[in-house]
Amino acid sequence: MKNIAILGATGSIGINTLDVLSRHPDKYNVFALSANNNWEKMQKLCVKYMPEFAVMANADAAESLRKVVPDEVTVLQGEGSLNDIASHQRTDFVMAAIVGGAGLSSTFAAASSGKRVMLANKESLVLGGNLLINAAKISGAELIPVDSEHSAIFQCLQGGKEGLNKIQLTASGGPFLKTPSAELYNVTPKQACNHPKWKMGRKISVDSATLMNKGLEVIEAHFLFQLLPSKIEVVIHPQSIVHSFVYFEDGSVLSQLGLPDMRSAISYALSFPSRQTSGVEDLDLTKQAPLEFLSPDMDRFKCLGLAYEALEKGGSAPGTLNAANEIAVEAFLNKKIGFLDIGTTIEKTLAITPTSSLDTLVSVVENDLLSRQIAQSVIEPSLL
Ligand SMILES: NC(=O)c1ccc[n+]([C@@H]2O[C@H](COP(=O)([O-])OP(=O)(O)OC[C@H]3O[C@@H](n4cnc5c(N)ncnc54)[C@H](OP(=O)(O)O)[C@@H]3O)[C@@H](O)[C@H]2O)c1
Repeated sequence: MKNIAILGATGSIGINTLDVLSRHPDKYNVFALSANNNWEKMQKLCVKYMPEFAVMANADAAESLRKVVPDEVTVLQGEGSLNDIASHQRTDFVMAAIVGGAGLSSTFAAASSGKRVMLANKESLVLGGNLLINAAKISGAELIPVDSEHSAIFQCLQGGKEGLNKIQLTASGGPFLKTPSAELYNVTPKQACNHPKWKMGRKISVDSATLMNKGLEVIEAHFLFQLLPSKIEVVIHPQSIVHSFVYFEDGSVLSQLGLPDMRSAISYALSFPSRQTSGVEDLDLTKQAPLEFLSPDMDRFKCLGLAYEALEKGGSAPGTLNAANEIAVEAFLNKKIGFLDIGTTIEKTLAITPTSSLDTLVSVVENDLLSRQIAQSVIEPSLL
């Protein structure tokens, strides 16, 4: 029986993880759950899954939760408690599914203490890069990707990396794949969050609409699979059935297919190296629309190009890209800036913020804070 801590339990990945776990009560025990503010949803999860610990990042939310959970559930609060749960000696597997840079510290805690880290929180790898990979190496932690594309590549590489030419990440293209440039100025947060294929949290939905999600995934793939940026390509595949490709020097191309449902990748991260049922229906290719593959439009979606530039620049640049993106997406969701201002904000922030090498977690956090401040000051004039 494996004890599972789900960080970000009230989110889209968290709920999908609980769905997979509840199909295998003989294998997994819900040990700890965490959320930020949403104590009402957490209360329901606590009643249903009876974890030993429930951690709320927000102090008021923890106070409210404490009054309504069963006595058996201990409610904790704050980032320190998240780290404690992630590294708890009774935790076996950690689902890192907090959204954004807020997941960095707990992902590091899990990676530094030898856990199986089921990595949905791609931002922590974009921010922490090799530091996170090295922390896992030293402690013996397993980093198993949960992003569907990286799970696909991870699955295709089980035979080893020998003869690998390149990888190709598939991207749905998001809700604005066919929207003309001129119309992108006026798209609303509601339209941006209306993803045609995947049901996800609001931040990653906007990232998918700008293609920044794919940019972050290129950086994630660079660190996870230790590949040069030139070996990582992106191809638009609107049907989201093929979850990525791996090209080998003998002309063979491996890929992993499945319906667009995160439970496949979550289940594999849990059961690796074996497999188990996940609740995802069988794929019937005869019932699918024809599968299309297109080159990404780097002019209309500048965020993808910015991610490649930050990766080439290295050091703190990917962290700055991520911080600026988080600030810009939040401003867009709060209707303070337009959709196309997201890319412009990131571009300007990257140009202003000095690039440094990041050798410690402290320097990663400092760069994140500085980049957020700069991104905020880039946005402010547009609010006048
Ligand atoms: N959704 C997908 O299909 C998908 C696919 C691949 C990768 N991912 C990645 O998985 C991660 C989670 O995505 P999601 O779509 O599940 O996000 P989501 O639905 O927005 O859920 C985010 C979770 O993180 C918690 N959270 C937010 N801010 C926090 C903070 N400051 N401190 C602690 N916890 C915080 C939220 O708690 P509250 O509910 O209290 O706000 C919630 O539990 C992201 O990194 C995303 O890129 C997601």
